[in-house]
Amino acid sequence: MSASFEIGSSSGSYRVEVECGSFQRSLSGFAGSAVIADEFFKPRFEEAGAQAVFVEAVETNKSLEASPGLIEQMRRSGANRQTRMVAVGGGIIQDLSAFIASVYMRGLRWTYMPTTVLAMVDSCIGGKSSINVGPYKNLVGTFHPPEVILIDPEVIATLPEDQRASGLIEAAKICFCRGEEAFARHVACKPSTQMSAESLEPLIINSLQSKKWFIEIDEFDKNERLLLNFGHTFGHAIEGATHFAIGHGIAVGLGIICALEFERLRGVDYSGNKRVAALETHLDEMVRSWTPVADELKKLPMDDVLDRFGCDKKHGKDFYTLILVAQNGDVELRKVERSDATLAQVRTAIERMVERYG
Ligand SMILES: NC(=O)c1ccc[n+]([C@@H]2O[C@H](COP(=O)([O-])OP(=O)(O)OC[C@H]3O[C@@H](n4cnc5c(N)ncnc54)[C@H](O)[C@@H]3O)[C@@H](O)[C@H]2O)c1
Repeated sequence: MSASFEIGSSSGSYRVEVECGSFQRSLSGFAGSAVIADEFFKPRFEEAGAQAVFVEAVETNKSLEASPGLIEQMRRSGANRQTRMVAVGGGIIQDLSAFIASVYMRGLRWTYMPTTVLAMVDSCIGGKSSINVGPYKNLVGTFHPPEVILIDPEVIATLPEDQRASGLIEAAKICFCRGEEAFARHVACKPSTQMSAESLEPLIINSLQSKKWFIEIDEFDKNERLLLNFGHTFGHAIEGATHFAIGHGIAVGLGIICALEFERLRGVDYSGNKRVAALETHLDEMVRSWTPVADELKKLPMDDVLDRFGCDKKHGKDFYTLILVAQNGDVELRKVERSDATLAQVRTAIERMVERYG
């Protein structure tokens, strides 16, 4: 099975190709390009006789501070406006490369080869780059999609289990937000951290085609695309308060559970909703596959989580902006009054999530 499809954007359409076994073959085709790759893949580049600038995939390297060194290096090696950039790695390498591609000589064409489940099912399309500045994560960024995205699901053979779980949680989130049919297709792929490259392929395609709907209808994150923040207001607060000991994908999974508990406290009854039940079962499995979760949650600094929850940039002065699930399973953006009573429900929702996994 292989697939190729186009994503429409205001800067033109771009192509996604999904094919098992395409990674190693592609590496040798990048002569003359400016290649930025995750250091993890150095041996595979050497094996293919391919050149690249290797960057360690850590948050401090997708930063404004780390960019000038790479830009100077590209200038010294003669990169000009005709040069194609190629990025090989997960979301960190993608964000850094997309940012540099968007500003270098006011914009280079680029190709992206995602290497993590998260990047394959989610971040590789949508065109966003997000760059850290000092202590602030994802503070600045641009929209500059690659021209081509080459996905080889076999590349995840070396990816640790928690990284797989994180990506699968993001895929579940996207498909759930897209609606009943997309989520049923996701579940039918039998998502698991042990799944083979062949079984991952249809899951990747379903997730990207679900996300395609959101980014084509709302490229710049003003309306429908905001729903993809499902789980993120709680999730970012958990991720930040644990200083990233709980990683992004797992935190989003925990955040979705908090969002469901929050609505239960406000009277929503999901007991007859099979879609919500399937989502919770799937998230339980993914979250528990990361064994340190219980210990990390036992130490969760609740007041810090609540402070961070309250500071989310999507909220207004008098209301919280939350992505919540209606009784019928539809995902909706809601503005909920900021009050002591609401904050008490937020706290209880988080406590219930901690009881579940802690
Ligand atoms: N721009 C966007 O739309 C967007 C969306 C979501 C997340 N992000 C960003 O993505 C980043 C997280 O990215 P990520 O989760 O894809 O991973 P990552 O790039 O942080 O990589 C995680 C780890 O996996 C390793 N790795 C990568 N591929 C591997 C492979 N095939 N085998 C073994 N190890 C491998 C890396 O070296 C690293 O140690 C965050 O900074 C987040 O903010 C961006």
